[in-house]
Amino acid sequence: MPERIDDLVVSATTALTAAADEAALEAWRVAYLGRSGRVTQILRSLAGLPPEERRAAGAAANQAKTSLEAALAAREAAVRGASLERALEQGRIDVTLPGRPYGLGRLHPTTQMVREICDAFAGMGFAVVEGPEVEWDYYNFEALNIPKDHPARDMWDTIWVSPEGPRAEQPMLMRTHTSPMQVRVMEASGGGPVRVVVPGKCYRYEATDATHESMFYQVEGLAVDVGISMADLKGTLYEFARRIFGEQRRVRYRCDYFPFVEPGVEMSIDCFACNGTGCRTCKQSGWIEILGAGMVHPEVLRRQGYDPEVFTGFAFGMGPERVAMLRHGIDDIRLFYANDFRFLQQF
Ligand code: PHE
Repeated sequence: MPERIDDLVVSATTALTAAADEAALEAWRVAYLGRSGRVTQILRSLAGLPPEERRAAGAAANQAKTSLEAALAAREAAVRGASLERALEQGRIDVTLPGRPYGLGRLHPTTQMVREICDAFAGMGFAVVEGPEVEWDYYNFEALNIPKDHPARDMWDTIWVSPEGPRAEQPMLMRTHTSPMQVRVMEASGGGPVRVVVPGKCYRYEATDATHESMFYQVEGLAVDVGISMADLKGTLYEFARRIFGEQRRVRYRCDYFPFVEPGVEMSIDCFACNGTGCRTCKQSGWIEILGAGMVHPEVLRRQGYDPEVFTGFAFGMGPERVAMLRHGIDDIRLFYANDFRFLQQF
């Protein structure tokens, strides 16, 4: 009997060494130490031995059981340690690997253009201010020399906002241009000199097409002071065109009509794509119209408390999307606000 126990301990120990994971260890435990395991069977069989043998056999069997239990515990610890080691190895982080690049956002092409335009004027001493997109009829039209029922109103397709509250008798609208800020800035200036650019959104009741959007940006400019002349207008806008479209640019002014300037002009630059020889970008004309401008109308000055005999000024307004379209060869203004990444990611 004691020999059998010794044999069993040897074979059990060998088997235990081969058990390499938790499942194998559990199978081993069931086979040797479980309720009908081999060690348990030996312990049970002791009852059938003659009393003189039982004592020694019992001691040997119990010792075998204790030592196998201890061996199991040790083996379990070793296997667990090894599997932790493996898990750590698999989950190892190499801190020397380069990081994964984040998809960084970027500024919208309109925002980039607006900033570039404003920077060009800021470099010439213009302050940048902003104003409300929902505007009173007074600022958008009336104070700009565009009275009610005047045909000049047809120049702007207007989105009216139903007026509410204490000033309900005064019509409100989504501003059709940034020019109302000319009035607000003069109003707030205390009659002193003014030099501002005003970027912002404008809205028109418009059927959209490749060159028209119902929401778009403008950058307005206004300079008012003693002794400002048309030469200042031309020089300032010429310098702007060179800064945005290149040192070689030439500019052309032609008469245009806006009720709040006199005289009014449109400014064109010679085509930067073909240097004025005629191409698709300039529709074969060699010139590209980029903004409207003029000397601030005396009536507009007078309304805001400036004496037009002393103060003069110039104003201009341009569409930054148009400028961006020209610069990048974009052929449809609707692309700017369609939120298509394939378009936006190119800028
Ligand atoms: N506000 C005019 C428009 O939207 C542009 C303009 C601004 C013209 C300032 C002259 C002076 O068409």
